[in-house]
Amino acid sequence: MLILGLESSCDETAAAVVRGRGARGHVLADVVASQHDVHRPFGGVVPELASRAHIEHVIPVVDAALTAAGVTLADLDAIAVTCGPGLIGALLVAVQTAKAMAYGAGKPLVGVHHLEGHMSAIYLEERAPPMPHLALIVSGGHTSLVLVTDHGSYGVLGQTRDDAAGEAFDKGAKLLGLGYPGGVLIDQLANGGDPQAISFPRAMLHKESNLDFSFSGLKTALLHWVRANGVPGSPASTATTAVAQTQSMQDVCASYQHAIVEVLVRKTRAAVEATGVAAVQLCGGVAANSALRAGMAQAGLADGFELFVPKPSHCTDNAAMIAMRGYFRFAAGGRDELTLDSRANWPLPHATPQWVRGA
Ligand code: KG4
Ligand code: ZN
Repeated sequence: MLILGLESSCDETAAAVVRGRGARGHVLADVVASQHDVHRPFGGVVPELASRAHIEHVIPVVDAALTAAGVTLADLDAIAVTCGPGLIGALLVAVQTAKAMAYGAGKPLVGVHHLEGHMSAIYLEERAPPMPHLALIVSGGHTSLVLVTDHGSYGVLGQTRDDAAGEAFDKGAKLLGLGYPGGVLIDQLANGGDPQAISFPRAMLHKESNLDFSFSGLKTALLHWVRANGVPGSPASTATTAVAQTQSMQDVCASYQHAIVEVLVRKTRAAVEATGVAAVQLCGGVAANSALRAGMAQAGLADGFELFVPKPSHCTDNAAMIAMRGYFRFAAGGRDELTLDSRANWPLPHATPQWVRGA
């Protein structure tokens, strides 16, 4: 089955062609036009600018994907598109484009939940997790621990009560004057730093049975640290030499990142223990983080669960994962009318919040 996927929920305009067969997808084309340069001067995504950039990029990106895959619209079995959650003006661009193409080419339209897309990226890899498994979804807008019992069938075990993990990275990077997007910059700088140098708080670890997260206190702790010590490299910094400045920035990044990663790993370990599942997948942009990947792999070895993580370019937003989820939905008989709408807020569908501990 040949599926075209489209994604424009935040700051990437993406199109991909995936051939789905059984429980796996094979990527024929995977095109992403990033808007990082557009938003960098503002230190975060500006919704109006995002919508405008999506409008400029969407047709060239779709053309590029079809050309790279060597297919035409006529060859497709369905067109899948992210219809939420996300920035409403941004979502509309891919949704309207997908609808127009579906109508013009007479192809079925399949709306996709962005987080279900993230959880489907792993099926584009050679190794994919068995059912049931746990998914840790960590992105710029979401942090959730999900029990996946089947494609499209989930129970949310825990989620963030305030900032998402990616938001913590991005806001932290902004406080440190590192620029946007911050996650990958902190990841790189943390590489040369000491994760124990500064003791940042780890929230919500006191109760093992509570699988929710909170990251806003960590961001405030960093703000206090910056007020007391200055941003390394700035005139206000207490580190005196250039070498000390560099080391100090690396230590702050490593310590801040470690605080985020430790909470994510410990909550995931607690969820594995409580549910008894033998497999975990990481997904969403923060799953590209090298310390999280390493920390979770170590936890897997210690606790005996198998870890599955997509390649980094399939952790951050892309349309291959949307085509993959579209394939699963379409193969199960799912499709949408041309009245399909975009939804800024959209809880994970089919979720069963009343998860019974140990069930
Ligand atoms: O999934 P995604 O591309 O978009 C959303 O759905 O939100 O996730 C973007 C988030 C951003 O907060 C970004 O800083 C973070 O993922 N991110 C990272 C890394 N790469 C991207 N965070 C930490 N380390 C990384 N290497
Ligand atoms: Zn995403």
